[in-house]
Amino acid sequence: MKPEIRIFKDLEKLSKDAADLFIELAANAIAQRGRFLVALNGGSTPVRLFQLLANEYKDKVEWSNVHVFWGDERCVPPDDPGSSYGQARDLLLSHVPLPDSNIHRVKGDLGPAEASKEYSLTLKEFASPPFEFPRFDLVYLGMGEDGHTASLFPGSPVEMTEPTVPVTAHYQDRPANRVSLTPIVFNQARVVAFMATGEKKAVTLAEVLSDRYNPELYPAQRISPQNGQLLWLVDEESASKLPNHVVVKFCEG
Ligand code: 6PG
Repeated sequence: MKPEIRIFKDLEKLSKDAADLFIELAANAIAQRGRFLVALNGGSTPVRLFQLLANEYKDKVEWSNVHVFWGDERCVPPDDPGSSYGQARDLLLSHVPLPDSNIHRVKGDLGPAEASKEYSLTLKEFASPPFEFPRFDLVYLGMGEDGHTASLFPGSPVEMTEPTVPVTAHYQDRPANRVSLTPIVFNQARVVAFMATGEKKAVTLAEVLSDRYNPELYPAQRISPQNGQLLWLVDEESASKLPNHVVVKFCEG
């Protein structure tokens, strides 16, 4: 699956495009299937997206038919500053008319093993046969400076057969115990949108988007929707080392 790589001047323009994507795909999914299944990511990059969806874009979504999941979570209580659920709740979910029953958080506070098992049961409730997990309409993913995505870190098994995995990995000063959805889930999504910004990610992004396939070292390369669209929304800084032969689209945004 050749990704569509969109380059934006800055995070603001990138986030607006990511919000437009949410609006468009939500409307389509709700019109066609009555509901929109979206998986959010954690970290700093989606913050502006969440703020836009909670404000400027708030009235453009039929929130009662939106179901929110997470691609991964840190195993901390929901009020902990390290909680991805907590971040999304404070920036977005508590500001829009989304029914609580439509918010499907990873119960990180249970600890990685139990939370992972519990979340695989939550995913089963939205199963899209023949799979025991949903076919997400939209998955937002980030990429770490080390090439990890969700909580799939370098050196972790490339082939994963379960929809969720417990993870312990050290990255910056972030909680190490985590739960992650796995590529078997991400690669059934209709649209996967990576968001990456900043010069510090430029070398890794150039490798991830190169023809050199090294999924053990660069887990972001494990994400390739089988029957869906793969988007990379990046800023000029993170794209600064992309080789010329990589096809990109410069977006005014
Ligand atoms: C997490 C994320 C993780 C994140 C990357 C990038 O919960 O930590 O899901 O995969 O997307 O670490 O994080 P930044 O956006 O902060 O660079």
